[in-house]
Amino acid sequence: MKTYKEFKNQIAEQIEVGSNSIESSAVSNLRTALNSTISAADVAQSAHWNLRSTNFITLHPWLGETYSALLVIADGIAEQIKIKSIDNLVIATHQRVLVITDEGLILRHLKITLESLIDDIETAATNPTIDAPTKNLLEGWQGEVQKMKWFVEASLD
Ligand SMILES: [Fe+2]
Repeated sequence: MKTYKEFKNQIAEQIEVGSNSIESSAVSNLRTALNSTISAADVAQSAHWNLRSTNFITLHPWLGETYSALLVIADGIAEQIKIKSIDNLVIATHQRVLVITDEGLILRHLKITLESLIDDIETAATNPTIDAPTKNLLEGWQGEVQKMKWFVEASLD
């Protein structure tokens, strides 16, 4: 049985391998898209929990569905990284969001986060080395996120 220190060192080595390994730009793009997806889910989840608004009854369930859908997309991207990466590790390094309660601020923040995610998925999908099945998956997820962005924009003044 490993000591706690040995276990910690092993994890540190694995992270080192994950961050330094030479991998394709397609996998690198997928890692960026994964982090953006988790960030967007985090924003939507924070909004779902913390929103204070006269539109709460409408927005609360939609924000709940949105963060759940984003986590499903994150899982799909992570699976593609597992299939394609050299080190076979999925390391997400997104930053957690601040808690915001104001409806306008939350929705604008979510809109910017979704726009950034759409760009990152686009970058991954248009990578010249990406295979056709993964490109199809990415384009499907991009369409889902574009629809989320449309709903957010339509909810803003
Ligand atoms: Fe909930």
